[in-house]
Formats: sequence, structure tokens, C-alpha cells
Amino acid sequence: MRIGPIELPNRLFAAPMAGVTDRAFRQLCKRLGAGYAVSEMVTSRKDLWASLKTSRRANHEGETAPIAVQIAGADASMMAEAAAYNIDRGAQIIDINLGCPAKKVCNKWAGSALMQDEPLALRIIEAVVAACAPHKVPVTLKMRTGWSAGQRNAVRIARAAERAGVAMVTVHGRTREQGYKGDAEYDTIAEVKANLNIPVVANGDIDSPERAAAVLSKTGVDAIMIGRAAQGRPWIFGDIAHYLTTGVHRPPPKVLQARHWLLEHLREHYELYGEFSGVLSARKHIGWVVRALPGGETFRHHMNQLDDSQAQFAAVADWFEAMALTHQHLWSAASTAANEDLTLPEAA
Ligand SMILES: Cc1cc2nc3c(=O)[nH]c(=O)nc-3n(C[C@H](O)[C@H](O)[C@H](O)COP(=O)(O)O)c2cc1C
Repeated sequence: MRIGPIELPNRLFAAPMAGVTDRAFRQLCKRLGAGYAVSEMVTSRKDLWASLKTSRRANHEGETAPIAVQIAGADASMMAEAAAYNIDRGAQIIDINLGCPAKKVCNKWAGSALMQDEPLALRIIEAVVAACAPHKVPVTLKMRTGWSAGQRNAVRIARAAERAGVAMVTVHGRTREQGYKGDAEYDTIAEVKANLNIPVVANGDIDSPERAAAVLSKTGVDAIMIGRAAQGRPWIFGDIAHYLTTGVHRPPPKVLQARHWLLEHLREHYELYGEFSGVLSARKHIGWVVRALPGGETFRHHMNQLDDSQAQFAAVADWFEAMALTHQHLWSAASTAANEDLTLPEAA
């Protein structure tokens, strides 16, 4: 699997998710089997580049290559400048966001709104490709199947993007109108794949090894991208890789192994965000991991009261250590939770 000249270790990708796939989480996904992980979207608005949020998103210190940065915006020259700015900060691949349904983004005619204005989308693509070419940085595109059920124009846009020099296209199998509702459909993704020579990536609702195998065979795509199912379960990449190679499931992670991964993630998370924001933003990651486990909801509630990183870290370490006394594997713990009638995660 290649993106332009860049060779990837496998075809299992972590999806960009604003507020989730920061550098620490991308590193975690890569360590646990993702061959590729895209940054959260970075605005093309120059006036925001110095903001803490954007500069943190453009910081790739210690990140495993290839470093892929997604940019979002609706003005071709601003998007070209944003590409160059991120290349200066270490980006080796630039991804253009044509898929975000968020009102904040779409009202400014960016993200998936661009799928409604194909000439503008193409001007942006051409400007970004031209800005990246001197640096030999490939440009990729992430989009939806179209704006609405009546306007599924992914194939047309993807073909135009390929002609303009885009190196890979990812398609989330929903329209903008759907937001995250309904099921992802893979027929349009298969159609995009059939019409392109560059690699195509399927995305949407891939939440198990079986689903991964089915999407790969149904669409013929070159790679698959996983978003929500990796929240609280970043080892899903390794699970899928194992299943695709052997045809059987590997055992769920050991409690002490998951403890180690989560603590390692927390250390990197605090380092990236600092004490105050670090503790607050780590809560969701911890919550996603523990919610399926016995007593997870009670623990999450307790952990959310802690506002000091050392206390949060110690609480997580102790909680998993205590669980390891009664459960060897994580999911055997989860089935106990189900028996206790606790809520299981929607995404996992
Ligand atoms: C919290 C959240 C944030 C997201 N942020 C972005 C983003 O910054 N850029 C983007 O292209 N897609 C973004 N997405 C969409 C995902 O990349 C992905 O296309 C979508 O979640 C469908 O894949 P999934 O079913 O595997 O989650 C986001 C999704 C979620 C849930």
C-alpha cells in the first residue's frame, strides 16, 4: 500500500477525528497496528494558526512517519498556504477535508459543503497539489458519497481529483445530509474504486474484523479506515490484522496489557496538553476504555471528579490492577459487565 512515493506498513488506517486523534492517540493507534493515521483537521485560517489548539495540532514531535495532516477551508489560496505551512512543520502527506458535516465548518463553505460546489472543490484541490508538488508531498482527499441521496457525486469528484494529481481518495459511505445517521453504504465506494487508478480507502461503520473483511471484499478498496470503533479500543487494528491473516479472532487483550497501553497513552497525552487541559481531555479516552467493563461507570464517575494528573493516572493504574486480580482478559471482564446489566459501548 503506497500513497504517492510513501510506502505504508499495512492497509488499516485510523480516521481523522477532531478532539480525538491528536498526536498521542495517533501514536497509540500506530503502536497497536494502524499502518497510517491522519491528524485532526487543521484550519486554513491563518489568524488561528498561532492559537494553542491549532499549534498543538501542527506539532508532530516524535510522531512515527508518515505524518499526515488534514486541512480544511474553502479558499484555494488559503488552503495552498495552509499546506505549505504544515509541510514546514513536518507534514509528509496533506489531506484535504471534503467530508466534514459540522455546521461550524460547512457554514463557511468548507468540509462536505464543498461537494456541492465541484468547481470550487477542484480549484482547492489544484491549488493544494501545486503547493505540495515542489516538496514532493502527496495530496489526498477525504470525502463523503455526496451531498444528499439525490446528489451522490463522489465518483465525479474523485475522478477529477485523480486527474488533478491527488494520490489517494478516502470515502465515508454516507452523504452530508445523513450526518452520522443511518448505515454507511459501500456500493458508492466500490464504484469510486472501480473508476480510479489511485488507491481508494473505504470508511464508515467498520467496527469488527468481520466487517473489515466484508468491506474489503465487497468494495475491492486498497485500504480501510476506522474511526469511532477505535475510541476506547485502539487495539482493533491489531485484531483486524490478525483476523485478515489467519481467519480467526485473536484473544482479547490481557487486563494488564490494556493497563500498560492506557497508562502509556496518558503519559503522552499529559505531555502534549499540559496539566490542566491534559486531565480534562484525558477523561473521555479513559471513559471509552472503561465503560464496557465491570464497575466501569462507577469508576468513570469517580475519575471525572479528579482534577490532578497524578491522581487520575494513579486511579487508572489501581483500577486496572484490581481488575487483573479477578480477570485475566479485558473482554471476559466486559461479559461480566454485561451480566451485571451495565451498558455496553455503542461503538466498540
Ligand atoms: C468526533 C469525531 C470527529 C471527527 N473529525 C473529523 C475530522 O476532523 N476530519 C474528517 O475528515 N473527518 C472527521 N470525522 C469523521 C471520521 O473521520 C469518519 O469519517 C467517520 O467517523 C466515519 O467513520 P467511522 O464509522 O469508522 O467512525 C470525525 C468523526 C468523529 C466521530
